[in-house]
Amino acid sequence: MTSLPASTLGRTGLGVSKLGYGAMELRGPAGGRGREIDDATAGRLLNQVLDAGIRLIDTSPDYGRSEELIGTHIAGRRDEFVLTSKCGCAVSEDGAPTFGEHDFSRHNVRAGVEQSLRRLRTDHLDAVQFHISPSMGTLHEHDSIAELLALKEEGKVRFIGMSGTLPNIEEQIESGVFDVFQIPYSALEREHEEVITRAARAGAGTIIRGGVARGVPSARPETIERLPERFRATYVARRERFDRAGLDDLLEGMSQMEFMLRFTISHPDLHTTIVGTANPDHLAANLEAAAKGPLPADLYEEAKRRLATA
Ligand SMILES: NC(=O)c1ccc[n+]([C@@H]2O[C@H](COP(=O)([O-])OP(=O)(O)OC[C@H]3O[C@@H](n4cnc5c(N)ncnc54)[C@H](OP(=O)(O)O)[C@@H]3O)[C@@H](O)[C@H]2O)c1
Repeated sequence: MTSLPASTLGRTGLGVSKLGYGAMELRGPAGGRGREIDDATAGRLLNQVLDAGIRLIDTSPDYGRSEELIGTHIAGRRDEFVLTSKCGCAVSEDGAPTFGEHDFSRHNVRAGVEQSLRRLRTDHLDAVQFHISPSMGTLHEHDSIAELLALKEEGKVRFIGMSGTLPNIEEQIESGVFDVFQIPYSALEREHEEVITRAARAGAGTIIRGGVARGVPSARPETIERLPERFRATYVARRERFDRAGLDDLLEGMSQMEFMLRFTISHPDLHTTIVGTANPDHLAANLEAAAKGPLPADLYEEAKRRLATA
């Protein structure tokens, strides 16, 4: 088995691998965003994730069939991994996948968590994160946190988290309410670099998303095409930034994606990064890269120096 670096998810005390798995790529094409993935392939991938020693899987009611596939294929291995999902996402009456709408009312928050538990075939989530970084004002208005605390009291949720982004993440950290923050970060998206440290210093677990910048440094044109249109220009700009920084000159045989993942893992306050993939070869490459740990210190510093002006 690949030996993955491990860490503790902040004050939750949960042991995790620094490489986690983001299960958004299992969502399927319904809703117009994902790719076709058949059940057998998803099952093999999820078991490959656990067999390789990945100890945290992140999903969401918003990710089409993702929760259902996790429930179908690895509910029997539930004690092998930390499971996180989201709340505030729309809940459908018939349990069909929902896409994109959010409602932070107590009723919807509870209905969402209970739907996640049914789909995931588990009796508890290790952490549930408010999706799309709502302001503290929105959460107070709906008394949403009280509902998560009630679910925690009932044992359905172990810890309370936030999928947080600037600017709202500042007040979310200050509130002291959240045990876990999910935060976007990579070499090409460093806006939250300092906020990650602040979240960790406040005692929260840090779950980093976007840790390989959706594969764009090495992406083929069809991968770029697959990106939602509203994000495409941003990712093309990130790829151009990679080139402008002259990072290829520093890699000495390391692949661009190994560099990306190890750069993310080099953040001293990262606890885990939930890299998404539906491709077993990419998963294997990510495992191999993560097992090598952080970048050499001199390469890390030089890459940061070049990126700062690129
Ligand atoms: N809280 C939120 O609002 C939010 C938003 C977005 C995502 N998330 C969570 O964060 C997770 C990851 O986020 P993300 O998908 O935005 O970013 P990401 O992990 O940086 O990128 C995933 C993409 O990168 C590609 N990829 C992965 N490894 C690769 C490799 N070795 N070589 C080439 N391409 C590679 C994958 O394509 P292939 O399938 O082709 O490998 C996939 O399309 C999601 O799964 C989800 O759990 C949360």
